[in-house]
Amino acid sequence: MWAELLPVGRSAASGGYRRFAWTTADAECRAWFREQAERRGLAYEVDRNGNQWAWLGDPQAGDAVVTGSHLDSVPDGGAFDGPLGVVSAFAALDELRSRGVEFTRPLAIVNFGDEEGARFGVACVGSRLAAGVLTRDQAYALRDADGARLPDAMERAGHDPAAIGTDHERLGRIGAFVELHVEQGRFLTERQPVGVASAIWPHGRWRFDFHGEANHAGTTRVEDRRDPMLTYATTVLAARKKARLAGALATFGKVAVEPNGTNAIASLVRGWLDSRAADEATLERVVEEIRQAAADRGGRDGVRVELTRESYTPVVDFDGPLRDRLARTLGGVPVLPTGAGHDAGILASAVPTAMLFVRNPTGISHSPAEHAEAADCLAGVTALADVLEDLACQG
Ligand code: GLV
Ligand code: MN
Ligand code: MN
Repeated sequence: MWAELLPVGRSAASGGYRRFAWTTADAECRAWFREQAERRGLAYEVDRNGNQWAWLGDPQAGDAVVTGSHLDSVPDGGAFDGPLGVVSAFAALDELRSRGVEFTRPLAIVNFGDEEGARFGVACVGSRLAAGVLTRDQAYALRDADGARLPDAMERAGHDPAAIGTDHERLGRIGAFVELHVEQGRFLTERQPVGVASAIWPHGRWRFDFHGEANHAGTTRVEDRRDPMLTYATTVLAARKKARLAGALATFGKVAVEPNGTNAIASLVRGWLDSRAADEATLERVVEEIRQAAADRGGRDGVRVELTRESYTPVVDFDGPLRDRLARTLGGVPVLPTGAGHDAGILASAVPTAMLFVRNPTGISHSPAEHAEAADCLAGVTALADVLEDLACQG
C-alpha cells in the first residue's frame, strides 16, 4: 500500500507532496482508497461532504468503531502526515482478519477530505462540515488562490456539492473514533514507538492585510513611502517575540504580495498567522498583542492593518475513558499532548475520540523530511489492531 501511494502527487523538484483537495493528485489518492476498500470486500461510500468510508458490517447498526485519517497534504508535505493513519487502518484490519477475531461492532475506515486546508485556507473541511462547525454557507464562500470556489472545485472533481453540510445522523452512528498519526514532534523519541494523545492545543489562522501605497522603488523618497512590507516584517518579528514570552507559538508561513514586483513598493502584503498555545486565554492574548504591534507599526508606516480570523479550533481534551482504555490495552505507553490539528480534534466534539502517535525520529513534519521508521510504523499497526480488537471484537 505504501509503495502504491508514494509516487502520487509527489513533486520531482522538492520531493514533497502536493495533494491538495479536489485536484488530480487528490483524485488519485481517493481512487487508491476505493480500491483498497473493494479489494477487502468492504462496502465503499462517499458521504455528502466528500469523505470516503469503507465499512465492515452494517453501517446503519450504530455504535461503530471508526479509524482512519486523511490523504491530502500541505504544500510540499511529507509522506506520513495523514496517509500513515489510512494505510495503518487497512493494515490493522488485515491483521485482525489474520487473527481470526469475530467483529461484534461495525468497523469503518475513513479518509476525511481536505484536512490540511492547503487549498481553501480552512483545515479539516470534511470533518468540520460533518460536525457542523463549518457551515454550508461558509464552505460555499471559500476560494482558492486562483479564485476557484470550493463547491465548483468539488463539482469538477465529480462530487455534487449541493448536499454538503451537517451530518449528525452519520456521526451519531459512531461509537468510537481512533486516528493513528505520525508524531509531529519529538516527545516519543527515546521512549516508545507508539503513544496515546491526551489533548490538542487550541489553534487558529488569522489573515493580516497590510494596505500601503504602490510606488517606484527607485524614485520615491523614504519619507514619502507607505511600504506595507515594513509593517509586515516588523509584525513577523513581534509575533515571534510575543509568542516566545507567552510559551506559545506564532508562525507566518504564507505571504502574498501585490503587485509583487522587484522594482515597486508593494500596495498590499497579506500574511497568514498560524498561532497555537496550551490554553485559549493565552492564545487570545498573544494574537491580540500581535495585532496591537502591527497596528502600532502600521501607524508609523502609513499602512492600514486589517485582521480577519479565518479559522479557529478550541482546545480538545480527548475522551478520558477511551484514552485510558487505549493506554491500558497498550500497556503503559506514553500519553502526550500535541500542537497539531486533526480531524480527530473536530470529531471529539461529537464522538468519543482518541489518537495514537507513531514515533518520528527527527520530529520534522509538514516537510519532505518527515519520517518514521518501518519498524515503528509496524508497531503502530499492531497497536491499532490491538485497540480495534479490544473495542470491536471478541477473541
Ligand atoms: C494540521 O496538520 C495542522 O496542525 O495545521
Ligand atoms: Mn498536517
Ligand atoms: Mn495530519
